[in-house]
Amino acid sequence: MASTEDKPAANKENTSSWKDSIYNPRTGEVLGRTASSWALILLFYLVFYCFLAGMFALTMWVMLLTLDDYVPRYRDRVPTPGLVIRPNSLDISFNKSDPPKYAQYVQHLETFLQRYNDSEQERNEECLAGEYFLQDDSDDMMKKACRFKRASLSLCSGLSDTNFGYHEGKPCVLLKLNRIIGLKPPGEPYINCTVKKDHPIQMHYFPSGGRIDKMYFPYYGKKAHATYAQPLVAVKLLLTKEDYNKELSVECRVEGSNLRNNDERDKFLGRVNFRVKVVE
Ligand SMILES: *[C@@H]1O[C@H](CO)[C@@H](O)[C@H](O)[C@H]1NC(C)=O
Ligand SMILES: *[C@@H]1O[C@H](CO)[C@@H](O)[C@H](O)[C@H]1NC(C)=O
Ligand SMILES: *[C@@H]1O[C@H](CO)[C@@H](O)[C@H](O)[C@H]1NC(C)=O
Repeated sequence: MASTEDKPAANKENTSSWKDSIYNPRTGEVLGRTASSWALILLFYLVFYCFLAGMFALTMWVMLLTLDDYVPRYRDRVPTPGLVIRPNSLDISFNKSDPPKYAQYVQHLETFLQRYNDSEQERNEECLAGEYFLQDDSDDMMKKACRFKRASLSLCSGLSDTNFGYHEGKPCVLLKLNRIIGLKPPGEPYINCTVKKDHPIQMHYFPSGGRIDKMYFPYYGKKAHATYAQPLVAVKLLLTKEDYNKELSVECRVEGSNLRNNDERDKFLGRVNFRVKVVE
């Protein structure tokens, strides 16, 4: 009997202690602590986090003081540049009789080549072909750049043929090596493209032989070498009727130097694979 009478009382106590744990009106505690206790805790964390932020800012500041704007501090031992193409698509596919289908590629190439206009490149030096363009550190921090003119890309310059061959089903693709500060590729680097197919496809390279002249090396960095013009190689794929309506797989590699172009893990080091499909 007594036990059944006790139950409601126990229940009431339970609910009131549960409520008290949130806010206890008798002691004025919130979540088991008084207001001044909470204020102390908040103050502690505020000071603690301010201290951490201060430490962080201080170390960053000291780090930045040791950096040189002109030369990166840490670099890989053996830099190998990636090879990239323009138009910026690894899947070039269009209808050669339908200009809107290839307009984006033509537009992209034209925009990309603006910085190689004569008006832009006249500011740059006429360098000695076949020699590295080495510049002394003791000189001016700003380095001179060698001239690369669009006209050297001939049929792929967009000057004589403003459609870059897309309208005739013989599209141009531009290739460039990513910039690597201080890289001086030995030998005579050139670009060689192949199409994985039974019968070989004719190609034209501009400049001739797909050569990348040594005078565009070394590169001295974004800040010191502000007007630097990356050397380009254009490949014009001389496709014929038999090549249309098929997906062609093209691979281009840097050869003639010691630059790596067959890395298992990185498929873009010194080479690039892309697909071309032309329909009429
Ligand atoms: C390519 O475009 C032409 C002209 O618009 C059209 O007649 C032809 O059917 C198109 N070809 C394909 C495969 O879509
Ligand atoms: C670059 O040359 C092209 C073709 O001659 C011209 O259409 C374009 O306006 C020029 N761009 C600049 C920025 O000079
Ligand atoms: C280009 O590469 C292909 C395939 O690797 C090779 O057969 C050809 O001799 C190379 N051409 C040049 C000029 O190196």
